[in-house]
Formats: sequence, C-alpha cells, structure tokens
Amino acid sequence: MAGTFNRRCIVTGGAGFIGSALVRHLVRDTEATVLVIDKLTYAGNMDSLEEVSGSPRYSFLQADICDQVAMDRAFADFKPQTIFHLAAETHVDRSIDRPGEFIRANVVGTATLLHSALAYWRALPGNAPQPPAADHQPPATRFNFRFQHISTDEVYGSLGEDGFFTEKTPYAPHSPYSASKAAADHLVRAWHYTYGLPILVTNSSNNYGPYQFPEKLIPLAILNALDGKELPVYGTGMNVRDWLHVDDHVEALRLVNEKGVPGETYNIGGRNERTNLEVVQTIYRILDKLRPRPDGTSYASLITFVSDRPGHDMRYAVDPSKLTGELGWKPKHSFEAGIRATVQWYLDNAWRWRSGLPR
Ligand SMILES: NC(=O)c1ccc[n+]([C@@H]2O[C@H](COP(=O)([O-])OP(=O)(O)OC[C@H]3O[C@@H](n4cnc5c(N)ncnc54)[C@H](O)[C@@H]3O)[C@@H](O)[C@H]2O)c1
Repeated sequence: MAGTFNRRCIVTGGAGFIGSALVRHLVRDTEATVLVIDKLTYAGNMDSLEEVSGSPRYSFLQADICDQVAMDRAFADFKPQTIFHLAAETHVDRSIDRPGEFIRANVVGTATLLHSALAYWRALPGNAPQPPAADHQPPATRFNFRFQHISTDEVYGSLGEDGFFTEKTPYAPHSPYSASKAAADHLVRAWHYTYGLPILVTNSSNNYGPYQFPEKLIPLAILNALDGKELPVYGTGMNVRDWLHVDDHVEALRLVNEKGVPGETYNIGGRNERTNLEVVQTIYRILDKLRPRPDGTSYASLITFVSDRPGHDMRYAVDPSKLTGELGWKPKHSFEAGIRATVQWYLDNAWRWRSGLPR
C-alpha cells in the first residue's frame, strides 16, 4: 500500500529525529521523491540520512526556513505536491532558557513557509486532478497540494489523572516551546480558513527510537548509563507521557497526507502511558541484562532526582481514535518491544553516531 505513495515531498527538519525517520520511510518504502530542507542546527544529523543518500529520489538543501527567498526558490524549483513541515526548535528546557530562538524558528519559520506555499499554490493549475506525468508522479495542482504541519500534544496543556486529549481539546500551552508550536498551529489553520490553502495538522505524543538527540529523556538515560553518569530526573519522576515509536508516527504522517481531509487535525498517540520514572527503570532493567555493569550493580543507581522544571506538565495522553477510526492507522510497536529495540540500537550505534554530535 505504501508503495503507491508517489508524491513529490518537501520535508523540513528532515535531518532531525522524526524528520529523518520520515525521509527514510518515504524513500525506502514508497515511491515518493523527497527534498529535505534543514538548517542543520545542533539537532540536525546527516548520519540519519546516510541510508537514503544514494537514492535518486532524495536531495538535500541546507537552508533556514525563515529565509523567504530560499523557501520561494525551493518551492519553484522542486515543485512539491506536499510539504511535511517538521523543522523546529524542540527541547522544552532550551525554550525556557532561550525562548526567542523558539519564536523565530517555530512561529516566524512557519509563517515564512506558509507565505511561500500560498504563493506557489495559487500559481498551480486549476482544481481538477491532472493525469500522471511521464515519471508516474502526478503533477502538483491546487487540488492535490497539501501543507502538513507536524505538531505536538503539548499544545493542549496538562491533564489530571483522567481523560485524554482529543482534537477538540482547547489549547492551553504552558512552556515557551508548546506556546510557539500552538502559535504555529493557529497560523497554519488561519491560512486554510482565510486563503483556502489545503492544510493538515497532526499533534503527536512523545516519540522514541533511533537517532534522537541525547538531550531528550530516553537517549539521555541510555547514553549517561554507558558513560557511568548520573541521570537527572525532574521532581519525583511521576510526570506521565504517552510514548509512541517514531516509525509508527511517520507511517501515520504518510497516511494523513494520503487520506486526511484538508483543514482537519489528527491526534497521534501510542496509548502507552508511562511515568518518567517507569521509562528509565525499564531502560535500566534492559541494560542490566544486555550490558551488565562490571560491579554487578544496577544502572538504576544512576537515577538522581533534581528540582522540577518550571511549569512542568503533569500528564499527557492522546486519544488517537479519529486517526484509527477514520484513516485506519494502527501502531505496530508495543512499548516493551520498541524500547528494547531502541536500547539495542543505541548500544550498537552509540560509538559511531555520537562522534558526529556536539558535546
Ligand atoms: N520528538 C517528539 O517527541 C515530538 C513529538 C510531537 C511533535 N514533535 C514535532 O516534530 C517535529 C520534529 O521533532 P524532532 O524531535 O524530530 O526534532 P529535532 O530537534 O530532532 O529536529 C529538528 C530539526 O529541525 C531543524 N531546524 C531547526 N530549526 C530550523 C530552521 N530554522 N530552519 C531549518 N531547519 C531547522 C534542525 O536542524 C533539526 O534537523 C517538531 O516540529 C516537533 O515539534 C516532536
């Protein structure tokens, strides 16, 4: 089924954790042609794109999404049918220290892309589907173009012990990161309501998997353990997140792009709620088996509780039933199998992968 996906796709942030997983999926499992646009900030990593680098259906443009001239030119030259917009500053802790960078990349960057996309879309041929071109890729039309914005469940704020975020949950972002993502979501929807741009918005829960920058909890827990370093855990470790394997997320993104209704929002979640403490304890149980410490003690002794992050949301949990019911998405990874495979991936690749990262 995925093989029939043959659109010309721009992927912004395609050298990041989720963007690169999406690019690997599109090039490996579908017939899509992909242009990655990425500024290569500290979070971008070209190693994550090595697998696809030899493909004639893959190309890369190093550029800032805030650069209007570069974005206009990328649209004009590549002629996409789809843009998957993932480029963003993404780490909540950094957003507390340097909110301006988040407003620039996430809000101004999204507005810049929308501006380029709208001008490009308005100049496309009419609204009827066009016959496929010689390379079997349907040319972009005003009818088949999609601007897909990739966002987070953090825009909905924090839950108590019960309930789930649905697409109708009012926005209540608490951190500069989530507020900047919420602003971008609103801009994308405004471009649909005001100008008719065919947009899609997806709000996903926390992702895990290979190539995640080790400032985020799961790779940080694994790599600190391998270095024998303490793992700081905020507060009492009782904050709950809903974990989703990155490969399940990117399949959902492709499916929404193929079958989603323009103007609609789809929540993506793994139905895998875990406290932060449970997550790191699980990782350390796996590591104790896969790579026992020479002195026989558990890696769990590295867990160190530190003062809580300001404004730390207590619980996120996503109801993905619109996506599962209307579009037929089903995640393939259980948390137990997915986290084990992820720990194994970092064990196998940490030495090579880390050499390219800023310390
Ligand atoms: N990681 C998660 O759990 C999660 C969950 C839900 C939604 N999201 C969203 O998914 C998207 C991708 O997240 P991620 O975890 O892969 O992020 P990441 O930090 O790993 O990667 C972000 C990428 O964007 C690029 N980038 C940043 N600013 C840019 C700019 N101004 N111009 C061009 N490129 C720029 C970086 O170089 C990097 O390659 C983000 O929009 C994020 O908000 C992430």
